Amino acid sequence: MANFPEIRMRRLRRTEGLRKLFGETPRIELSDLIHPLFVVEGTGVKEEISSMPGIFRHSPDLLPGEVEEIAKLGISAVILFGIPKNKDEVGSGAHHPKGIVQKAIQVIKNTVPELVLVTDVCLCEYTNHGHCGAVIDGYVDNDKTLALLAEIAVSHGQAGADIVAPSDMMDGRVMAIRKSLDKNDLSLVPIISYAAKYASAFYGPFREAAESVPQFGDRLSYQMNPSNCREALREIKQDIVEGADVVMVKPALAYLDVIHKVRDTFNYPLAAYNVSGEYSMVKAAAGQGWLDERKTIMEILTSIKRAGADVIITYHAKEVAKWLK
Ligand code: PBG
Repeated sequence: MANFPEIRMRRLRRTEGLRKLFGETPRIELSDLIHPLFVVEGTGVKEEISSMPGIFRHSPDLLPGEVEEIAKLGISAVILFGIPKNKDEVGSGAHHPKGIVQKAIQVIKNTVPELVLVTDVCLCEYTNHGHCGAVIDGYVDNDKTLALLAEIAVSHGQAGADIVAPSDMMDGRVMAIRKSLDKNDLSLVPIISYAAKYASAFYGPFREAAESVPQFGDRLSYQMNPSNCREALREIKQDIVEGADVVMVKPALAYLDVIHKVRDTFNYPLAAYNVSGEYSMVKAAAGQGWLDERKTIMEILTSIKRAGADVIITYHAKEVAKWLK
């Protein structure tokens, strides 16, 4: 059996041509990326999120410019988050036909109809307590929340969303949403379920962006314990049984092992969410000159694909698009 010095691993790394020729699969392609968008009430609003440099909240009238730029860059999908003016106990703004997301959906669809439009289905931006469901005696009530989520998903579908993506982590929501969509002539609207969504500190900047910080307690009674991987497989399986078309692991970078396990276990399209805190860490370090921004971002996204994700939701999509051109 040959060994060193007959075997030299560095032979195939000697030139750029050799390295390219023997590069393994994960190549970041623009067609695999989904860009998040935050939309707020008002007119003429374009405000940068302080903890996420380069990411903005837009009012509906300024969305056309943003989505035209995204489409021109070659990005094929966006995921939409709404920040309403008024919040209440049950987040009724989330399913209002003239709500902020419903308005934004129509604007985006009228501007770039071919852009794949995913909507985040959740209550935390719309409730005055900031939790992802109806709160009863201080506890997020699972079964009462299901009807609300189903109503939100239907209203998004009716407004023109291409895909709905529930991120609340209630049990049974995929089934409840699927049934309601089907009952309302929306049987062709797919569901991306945030199936294995961890209770993560990496959502910090997002909560600033979306004004969805829980006003009491935390999300530990519905989002997953970061220690758990076997439980993630049960969550994923459950959502598949309930009718999810695509399953998601979130966050991505601290959960590459989970992405890998899910890829090995299920033959379902798999999304990963490269979340706000992952973005902000890179931006902060690059801003200090401590990291090469472009190389770091490409390495992170490559690792998420290598772990097994088919599509990646990432705030870096626009920068990546410029680099890949
Ligand atoms: C809403 C939701 C959150 C994110 C996506 N949808 C926040 C949360 O669960 O607190 C996080 C996204 C990010 O951090 O980029 N439930």
